Amino acid sequence: MVAPSILSGNFADMGSEVKNMKDIGADWIHVDVMDGVFVHNLTLGFKMISDLRKLSDMFFDVHLMITEPKRYVERFVKSGADLVSFHIEAEKDVDGTIDLIKNAGCKCGLAINPDTAVDKIRPFVDKLDLILVMSVFPGFGGQKFIDGSLERIALAAKYRNELNPNALIEVDGGVNIGNARDIAHAGADVIVAGNAVFGAEDRAAAVAELRG
Ligand code: DX5
Ligand code: ZN
Repeated sequence: MVAPSILSGNFADMGSEVKNMKDIGADWIHVDVMDGVFVHNLTLGFKMISDLRKLSDMFFDVHLMITEPKRYVERFVKSGADLVSFHIEAEKDVDGTIDLIKNAGCKCGLAINPDTAVDKIRPFVDKLDLILVMSVFPGFGGQKFIDGSLERIALAAKYRNELNPNALIEVDGGVNIGNARDIAHAGADVIVAGNAVFGAEDRAAAVAELRG
């Protein structure tokens, strides 16, 4: 599946951008939430998500890049997220945060930064709907895919296969037409694409090519 990241969209016209995601054949909409503390950037929050929710019936894949996400995950579910991912590096109570998201009736993902050992997610894999492997340091779109990420994706996929075959592997950062095939072969089920979709002249063609 292809999940375009609206971080690369026009924030002054986000309603049209989100509506456009259906027309171009996107599978999910990836929503990057940043708090200026966990990462050096600020993006959007509850109000934006709940207003966008009214415009779209697509799957909202919400990626929280915020400190101590446990404080806020239920509000993101209420705002209209279909899946909430948070960073293992940002939260002491990983189990409790997963439980809050799932008990609120939402799917749950756990994200891992490029410099965190993939083993760290192992204890939580059986409870997750998705593992989000970052292939750039989060904060900005348009960065280069970090070498060595393919091995990390493959290791996450191995844990998934052993412990929870229904969970999905999602890869985020620097994905493009040139590397999508290798990323899928390493085990990714969902690829996030910011620049590769929003920077393309023909967005629908870009989504189709990435999926292909
Ligand atoms: C990075 C975000 C990504 C980003 C991807 O911090 O989590 O979702 O928007 O953008 P590209 O595909 O341009 O690397
Ligand atoms: Zn993201």
